[in-house]
Amino acid sequence: MFHSELRALFLARFGHEPTLFGIAPGRVNLIGEHTDYNDGFVFPGAIDRGLYIAARVVEGKSHVVSKQMGDGESFDASSVVPGGGMTSWSKYPAGMAWALRSHGELPNIEAYIDSDIPIGSGVSSSAAIEMAFGVVWNMFAGLGLTNRELAKLGQVCENQFVGVNSGIMDQMASAMGKEGRAMFLDTRTLDIAYAPVPNGVSVVLCDTKKPRALTDSAYNERRSQCEEASQILGVSKLRDADVADLEGAKPKMSDVVYRRARHVITENERCIQFKEALDAGELEKAGKLMRASHVSLRDDYEVSCRELDEMADAAAAAPGCIGARMTGAGFGGACVALVHDESLEVFRAATLSAYDKATGLGGEAMACCLVDGARIVSSLP
Ligand code: GLA
Repeated sequence: MFHSELRALFLARFGHEPTLFGIAPGRVNLIGEHTDYNDGFVFPGAIDRGLYIAARVVEGKSHVVSKQMGDGESFDASSVVPGGGMTSWSKYPAGMAWALRSHGELPNIEAYIDSDIPIGSGVSSSAAIEMAFGVVWNMFAGLGLTNRELAKLGQVCENQFVGVNSGIMDQMASAMGKEGRAMFLDTRTLDIAYAPVPNGVSVVLCDTKKPRALTDSAYNERRSQCEEASQILGVSKLRDADVADLEGAKPKMSDVVYRRARHVITENERCIQFKEALDAGELEKAGKLMRASHVSLRDDYEVSCRELDEMADAAAAAPGCIGARMTGAGFGGACVALVHDESLEVFRAATLSAYDKATGLGGEAMACCLVDGARIVSSLP
Protein backbone atom coordinates (compact mmCIF):
# COMPACT_ATOMS: atom_id res chain seq x y z
CA MET A 1 0.00 0.00 0.00
CA PHE A 2 2.66 2.52 1.01
CA HIS A 3 4.64 1.67 -2.13
CA SER A 4 2.28 3.48 -4.45
CA GLU A 5 1.99 6.55 -2.24
CA LEU A 6 5.68 6.84 -1.57
CA ARG A 7 6.47 6.12 -5.18
CA ALA A 8 4.16 8.95 -6.26
CA LEU A 9 5.72 11.36 -3.76
CA PHE A 10 9.20 10.41 -4.94
CA LEU A 11 8.27 10.78 -8.58
CA ALA A 12 6.65 14.18 -8.02
CA ARG A 13 9.67 15.46 -6.13
CA PHE A 14 12.58 14.02 -8.13
CA GLY A 15 11.06 13.36 -11.57
CA HIS A 16 12.24 9.72 -11.62
CA GLU A 17 11.09 6.38 -10.28
CA PRO A 18 12.70 5.11 -7.06
CA THR A 19 14.54 1.80 -7.42
CA LEU A 20 14.47 0.61 -3.81
CA PHE A 21 12.05 0.66 -0.88
CA GLY A 22 12.88 0.04 2.75
CA ILE A 23 11.26 0.15 6.15
CA ALA A 24 12.60 0.69 9.67
CA PRO A 25 10.31 0.47 12.72
CA GLY A 26 10.21 2.63 15.85
CA ARG A 27 10.59 0.93 19.21
CA VAL A 28 9.09 0.72 22.65
CA ASN A 29 11.08 -0.35 25.70
CA LEU A 30 9.25 -2.53 28.24
CA ILE A 31 11.90 -2.15 30.96
CA GLY A 32 15.65 -1.51 31.36
CA GLU A 33 15.88 2.27 30.96
CA HIS A 34 19.14 4.21 30.85
CA THR A 35 21.02 0.95 31.30
CA ASP A 36 22.32 0.47 27.74
CA TYR A 37 25.23 2.93 27.97
CA ASN A 38 26.20 1.17 31.19
CA ASP A 39 26.59 -2.16 29.32
CA GLY A 40 23.40 -3.38 31.00
CA PHE A 41 20.15 -5.12 30.01
CA VAL A 42 17.19 -3.70 28.08
CA PHE A 43 13.88 -5.18 26.90
CA PRO A 44 12.60 -3.32 23.83
CA GLY A 45 10.53 -4.36 20.83
CA ALA A 46 10.10 -2.92 17.33
CA ILE A 47 6.59 -1.52 16.85
CA ASP A 48 4.16 -1.26 13.96
CA ARG A 49 4.85 2.45 13.53
CA GLY A 50 7.60 2.78 11.01
CA LEU A 51 9.64 4.88 8.70
CA TYR A 52 9.36 4.10 4.99
CA ILE A 53 12.00 5.05 2.46
CA ALA A 54 12.12 5.19 -1.34
CA ALA A 55 15.50 5.80 -2.97
CA ARG A 56 17.60 5.73 -6.12
CA VAL A 57 21.29 6.22 -6.90
CA VAL A 58 22.23 9.57 -8.48
CA GLU A 59 25.25 11.49 -9.73
CA GLY A 60 26.16 14.59 -7.71
CA LYS A 61 25.05 15.12 -4.14
CA SER A 62 22.58 13.21 -1.98
CA HIS A 63 19.16 14.85 -1.63
CA VAL A 64 16.84 13.74 1.14
CA VAL A 65 13.21 14.76 1.65
CA SER A 66 10.82 13.90 4.45
CA LYS A 67 7.06 14.17 4.14
CA GLN A 68 6.90 15.31 7.79
CA MET A 69 10.13 17.33 8.18
CA GLY A 70 10.64 18.73 4.68
CA ASP A 71 13.89 18.96 2.71
CA GLY A 72 17.12 18.12 4.48
CA GLU A 73 20.44 19.72 3.54
CA SER A 74 22.18 18.11 0.56
CA PHE A 75 25.48 16.36 1.19
CA ASP A 76 28.09 14.26 -0.56
CA ALA A 77 27.85 10.71 0.77
CA SER A 78 31.36 9.97 -0.46
CA SER A 79 33.03 12.71 1.56
CA VAL A 80 30.77 14.06 4.33
CA VAL A 81 32.50 14.13 7.74
CA PRO A 82 31.46 15.12 11.28
CA GLY A 83 31.69 18.76 12.35
CA GLY A 84 30.07 20.23 9.23
CA GLY A 85 27.44 22.02 11.34
CA MET A 86 24.40 20.39 9.75
CA THR A 87 21.23 21.69 11.32
CA SER A 88 18.45 19.75 9.59
CA TRP A 89 17.44 16.11 9.99
CA SER A 90 20.04 15.38 7.26
CA LYS A 91 22.55 14.83 10.04
CA TYR A 92 21.09 11.33 10.50
CA PRO A 93 21.47 10.09 6.88
CA ALA A 94 24.74 12.03 6.46
CA GLY A 95 26.09 10.56 9.70
CA MET A 96 25.04 7.11 8.56
CA ALA A 97 26.85 7.63 5.23
CA TRP A 98 29.98 8.68 7.09
CA ALA A 99 29.78 5.65 9.44
CA LEU A 100 29.06 3.20 6.57
CA ARG A 101 32.06 4.44 4.57
CA SER A 102 34.38 2.56 6.96
CA HIS A 103 33.07 -0.54 5.10
CA GLY A 104 33.26 0.61 1.49
CA GLU A 105 32.47 3.32 -1.02
CA LEU A 106 28.97 4.74 -1.11
CA PRO A 107 26.98 6.17 -3.99
CA ASN A 108 24.95 9.35 -3.64
CA ILE A 109 21.20 8.91 -3.51
CA GLU A 110 17.88 10.68 -3.74
CA ALA A 111 15.62 9.56 -0.92
CA TYR A 112 12.08 10.31 0.20
CA ILE A 113 10.92 9.24 3.65
CA ASP A 114 7.46 9.02 5.17
CA SER A 115 6.77 8.01 8.73
CA ASP A 116 3.94 7.18 11.09
CA ILE A 117 6.23 7.08 14.13
CA PRO A 118 4.92 9.73 16.52
CA ILE A 119 7.66 12.40 16.67
CA GLY A 120 8.77 13.54 20.14
CA SER A 121 7.10 10.57 21.82
CA GLY A 122 10.31 8.83 22.75
CA VAL A 123 9.85 5.89 20.38
CA SER A 124 13.01 6.56 18.50
CA SER A 125 12.28 8.10 15.16
CA SER A 126 15.99 8.99 14.86
CA ALA A 127 17.21 5.39 15.11
CA ALA A 128 14.57 4.46 12.51
CA ILE A 129 15.98 7.07 10.11
CA GLU A 130 19.48 5.68 10.65
CA MET A 131 18.39 2.08 10.08
CA ALA A 132 16.26 2.96 7.02
CA PHE A 133 19.20 4.68 5.32
CA GLY A 134 21.46 1.89 6.60
CA VAL A 135 19.55 -0.88 4.80
CA VAL A 136 19.24 1.19 1.62
CA TRP A 137 22.94 2.07 1.34
CA ASN A 138 23.95 -1.42 2.41
CA MET A 139 22.03 -2.72 -0.61
CA PHE A 140 23.07 -0.04 -3.12
CA ALA A 141 26.76 -0.32 -2.21
CA GLY A 142 26.71 -4.12 -1.83
CA LEU A 143 28.37 -3.86 1.58
CA GLY A 144 26.85 -7.12 2.85
CA LEU A 145 26.50 -5.85 6.42
CA THR A 146 24.18 -7.64 8.85
CA ASN A 147 21.46 -5.74 10.68
CA ARG A 148 23.45 -6.12 13.90
CA GLU A 149 26.40 -4.40 12.21
CA LEU A 150 24.09 -1.67 10.89
CA ALA A 151 22.84 -1.09 14.44
CA LYS A 152 26.41 -0.64 15.68
CA LEU A 153 27.09 1.85 12.89
CA GLY A 154 23.89 3.68 13.80
CA GLN A 155 25.25 4.18 17.28
CA VAL A 156 28.57 5.44 15.86
CA CYS A 157 26.56 7.92 13.75
CA GLU A 158 24.54 9.07 16.76
CA ASN A 159 27.57 9.41 19.08
CA GLN A 160 30.17 10.83 16.73
CA PHE A 161 28.23 12.65 14.03
CA VAL A 162 24.97 13.76 15.65
CA GLY A 163 26.68 14.30 19.03
CA VAL A 164 24.31 12.43 21.34
CA ASN A 165 26.08 9.91 23.56
CA SER A 166 23.27 7.37 23.32
CA GLY A 167 23.53 3.63 23.88
CA ILE A 168 22.68 0.97 21.31
CA MET A 169 19.17 -0.04 22.38
CA ASP A 170 17.20 1.98 19.83
CA GLN A 171 19.22 0.92 16.81
CA MET A 172 19.23 -2.74 17.90
CA ALA A 173 15.45 -2.66 18.43
CA SER A 174 14.79 -1.08 15.04
CA ALA A 175 17.26 -3.37 13.24
CA MET A 176 16.67 -6.69 15.03
CA GLY A 177 12.97 -6.66 15.95
CA LYS A 178 10.95 -9.88 15.54
CA GLU A 179 7.24 -10.18 14.92
CA GLY A 180 5.25 -10.78 18.10
CA ARG A 181 8.35 -10.72 20.27
CA ALA A 182 10.18 -8.36 22.56
CA MET A 183 13.96 -8.69 22.84
CA PHE A 184 15.86 -9.18 26.06
CA LEU A 185 19.16 -7.67 25.01
CA ASP A 186 22.51 -7.78 26.74
CA THR A 187 24.01 -4.52 25.50
CA ARG A 188 27.54 -5.68 26.35
CA THR A 189 27.56 -8.80 24.17
CA LEU A 190 24.59 -7.85 21.93
CA ASP A 191 23.13 -11.30 22.64
CA ILE A 192 19.36 -11.35 22.24
CA ALA A 193 16.79 -13.63 23.84
CA TYR A 194 13.47 -13.01 22.06
CA ALA A 195 10.46 -13.34 24.32
CA PRO A 196 6.79 -13.41 23.29
CA VAL A 197 4.38 -10.95 24.83
CA PRO A 198 2.12 -13.21 26.93
CA ASN A 199 -1.11 -14.38 25.30
CA GLY A 200 -3.99 -12.03 25.87
CA VAL A 201 -1.75 -9.08 26.73
CA SER A 202 -1.28 -5.91 24.67
CA VAL A 203 1.56 -3.42 24.65
CA VAL A 204 0.03 0.06 24.82
CA LEU A 205 1.90 3.26 24.16
CA CYS A 206 0.41 6.10 26.21
CA ASP A 207 1.63 9.32 24.65
CA THR A 208 1.60 12.36 26.96
CA LYS A 209 1.67 14.71 23.94
CA LYS A 210 4.28 16.64 25.87
CA PRO A 211 7.17 16.64 23.42
CA ARG A 212 10.53 15.60 24.79
CA ALA A 213 12.52 18.68 25.71
CA LEU A 214 16.17 19.49 26.50
CA THR A 215 16.98 15.83 26.25
CA ASP A 216 20.41 15.91 24.64
CA SER A 217 22.25 17.88 27.32
CA ALA A 218 20.45 16.19 30.23
CA TYR A 219 21.08 12.79 28.61
CA ASN A 220 24.80 13.42 28.20
CA GLU A 221 24.94 14.69 31.79
CA ARG A 222 23.37 11.46 33.10
CA ARG A 223 25.90 9.47 31.14
CA SER A 224 28.84 11.40 32.66
CA GLN A 225 27.40 10.88 36.15
CA CYS A 226 27.31 7.13 35.49
CA GLU A 227 30.92 7.25 34.35
CA GLU A 228 31.87 9.12 37.52
CA ALA A 229 30.13 6.45 39.62
CA SER A 230 31.91 3.59 37.84
CA GLN A 231 35.24 5.30 38.32
CA ILE A 232 34.63 5.63 42.06
CA LEU A 233 33.46 2.00 42.18
CA GLY A 234 36.53 0.85 40.25
CA VAL A 235 34.53 -0.89 37.51
CA SER A 236 34.58 -0.28 33.77
CA LYS A 237 30.76 0.02 33.60
CA LEU A 238 27.97 0.07 36.19
CA ARG A 239 26.87 -3.32 34.83
CA ASP A 240 29.75 -4.74 36.85
CA ALA A 241 28.63 -3.34 40.23
CA ASP A 242 25.92 -4.52 42.62
CA VAL A 243 23.97 -2.78 45.37
CA ALA A 244 26.44 -3.95 48.05
CA ASP A 245 29.37 -2.40 46.11
CA LEU A 246 27.40 0.81 45.79
CA GLU A 247 26.55 1.01 49.49
CA GLY A 248 30.24 0.45 50.30
CA ALA A 249 31.29 3.33 48.07
CA LYS A 250 28.47 5.67 49.10
CA PRO A 251 30.64 7.89 51.36
CA LYS A 252 32.94 8.63 48.39
CA MET A 253 30.10 9.89 46.13
CA SER A 254 27.89 12.92 45.94
CA ASP A 255 24.23 12.19 46.66
CA VAL A 256 23.32 12.79 43.00
CA VAL A 257 25.93 10.38 41.64
CA TYR A 258 24.91 7.78 44.23
CA ARG A 259 21.24 8.00 43.18
CA ARG A 260 22.08 7.83 39.47
CA ALA A 261 24.13 4.67 40.07
CA ARG A 262 21.41 3.20 42.29
CA HIS A 263 18.90 3.58 39.48
CA VAL A 264 21.14 1.85 36.94
CA ILE A 265 22.17 -1.01 39.22
CA THR A 266 18.63 -1.74 40.43
CA GLU A 267 17.15 -1.28 36.93
CA ASN A 268 19.48 -3.96 35.58
CA GLU A 269 18.22 -6.31 38.29
CA ARG A 270 14.62 -5.39 37.51
CA CYS A 271 15.14 -6.08 33.81
CA ILE A 272 16.43 -9.60 34.53
CA GLN A 273 13.61 -10.25 37.03
CA PHE A 274 11.03 -8.96 34.54
CA LYS A 275 12.24 -11.45 31.93
CA GLU A 276 11.99 -14.25 34.51
CA ALA A 277 8.51 -13.10 35.54
CA LEU A 278 7.28 -13.08 31.93
CA ASP A 279 8.79 -16.50 31.29
CA ALA A 280 7.01 -17.84 34.39
CA GLY A 281 3.71 -16.14 33.48
CA GLU A 282 3.88 -14.05 36.68
CA LEU A 283 2.17 -10.95 35.36
CA GLU A 284 1.55 -9.34 38.72
CA LYS A 285 5.26 -9.46 39.51
CA ALA A 286 6.10 -8.06 36.06
CA GLY A 287 3.70 -5.17 36.68
CA LYS A 288 5.26 -4.36 40.05
CA LEU A 289 8.70 -4.26 38.44
CA MET A 290 7.43 -1.78 35.84
CA ARG A 291 6.11 0.45 38.62
CA ALA A 292 9.42 0.23 40.53
CA SER A 293 11.24 1.17 37.33
CA HIS A 294 9.11 4.29 36.91
CA VAL A 295 9.64 5.35 40.53
CA SER A 296 13.39 4.88 40.23
CA LEU A 297 13.52 6.89 36.98
CA ARG A 298 11.42 9.59 38.62
CA ASP A 299 13.19 9.86 41.98
CA ASP A 300 16.75 8.60 41.51
CA TYR A 301 17.48 9.24 37.85
CA GLU A 302 15.25 12.32 37.61
CA VAL A 303 14.32 11.93 33.95
CA SER A 304 10.55 11.87 34.34
CA CYS A 305 8.32 14.92 34.33
CA ARG A 306 4.88 15.81 35.63
CA GLU A 307 3.07 14.62 32.51
CA LEU A 308 4.87 11.25 32.47
CA ASP A 309 4.13 10.78 36.18
CA GLU A 310 0.45 11.60 35.68
CA MET A 311 0.21 9.26 32.69
CA ALA A 312 1.99 6.42 34.51
CA ASP A 313 -0.34 6.86 37.50
CA ALA A 314 -3.45 7.14 35.33
CA ALA A 315 -2.54 4.01 33.37
CA ALA A 316 -1.62 2.01 36.48
CA ALA A 317 -5.00 2.81 38.06
CA ALA A 318 -7.02 2.00 34.93
CA PRO A 319 -8.92 -1.32 34.53
CA GLY A 320 -6.96 -4.15 32.96
CA CYS A 321 -3.51 -2.62 33.54
CA ILE A 322 -0.75 -5.05 34.47
CA GLY A 323 1.96 -2.39 34.76
CA ALA A 324 2.97 1.01 33.39
CA ARG A 325 6.09 3.15 33.26
CA MET A 326 7.73 5.89 31.27
CA THR A 327 9.59 4.56 28.23
CA GLY A 328 12.62 5.95 26.41
CA ALA A 329 14.94 8.74 27.48
CA GLY A 330 12.28 10.71 29.41
CA PHE A 331 11.57 14.45 29.89
CA GLY A 332 8.30 14.04 28.00
CA GLY A 333 7.24 11.45 25.46
CA ALA A 334 5.29 8.33 26.31
CA CYS A 335 4.60 5.65 28.88
CA VAL A 336 4.31 1.98 28.04
CA ALA A 337 1.64 -0.18 29.64
CA LEU A 338 0.90 -3.90 29.54
CA VAL A 339 -2.85 -4.35 29.40
CA HIS A 340 -5.22 -7.34 29.33
CA ASP A 341 -6.71 -7.50 25.83
CA GLU A 342 -10.32 -7.71 26.97
CA SER A 343 -9.99 -4.41 28.88
CA LEU A 344 -8.26 -2.41 26.13
CA GLU A 345 -11.14 -0.04 25.42
CA VAL A 346 -12.02 0.68 29.03
CA PHE A 347 -8.29 1.00 29.86
CA ARG A 348 -7.87 3.58 27.12
CA ALA A 349 -10.90 5.63 28.18
CA ALA A 350 -10.07 5.60 31.90
CA THR A 351 -6.38 6.42 31.38
CA LEU A 352 -6.96 9.29 29.00
CA SER A 353 -9.75 10.82 31.04
CA ALA A 354 -7.71 10.74 34.28
CA TYR A 355 -4.67 12.10 32.44
CA ASP A 356 -6.65 14.92 30.85
CA LYS A 357 -8.20 15.81 34.20
CA ALA A 358 -4.77 16.07 35.79
CA THR A 359 -2.94 17.92 33.03
CA GLY A 360 -5.46 19.46 30.65
CA LEU A 361 -3.64 17.64 27.84
CA GLY A 362 -5.41 15.17 25.61
CA GLY A 363 -3.02 12.22 25.44
CA GLU A 364 -3.25 9.25 23.14
CA ALA A 365 -3.21 5.52 23.84
CA MET A 366 -2.18 3.21 21.01
CA ALA A 367 -2.03 -0.56 21.18
CA CYS A 368 1.12 -1.64 19.33
CA CYS A 369 2.03 -4.87 17.59
CA LEU A 370 5.65 -5.99 17.77
CA VAL A 371 7.14 -6.40 14.30
CA ASP A 372 10.23 -7.40 12.30
CA GLY A 373 13.21 -5.06 12.12
CA ALA A 374 14.56 -2.84 9.33
CA ARG A 375 14.68 -4.33 5.84
CA ILE A 376 14.42 -3.75 2.10
CA VAL A 377 10.80 -4.34 1.18
CA SER A 378 11.05 -4.75 -2.58
CA SER A 379 12.83 -3.23 -5.51
CA LEU A 380 11.07 -1.93 -8.60
CA PRO A 381 12.42 -2.73 -12.04
C1 GLA B 1 17.45 6.97 24.37
C2 GLA B 1 18.78 6.40 23.87
C3 GLA B 1 18.93 4.93 24.25
C4 GLA B 1 18.65 4.70 25.73
C5 GLA B 1 17.36 5.38 26.16
C6 GLA B 1 17.15 5.32 27.65
O1 GLA B 1 16.39 6.38 23.70
O2 GLA B 1 18.89 6.57 22.48
O3 GLA B 1 20.21 4.49 23.89
O4 GLA B 1 19.73 5.13 26.51
O5 GLA B 1 17.31 6.74 25.77
O6 GLA B 1 17.00 4.02 28.08
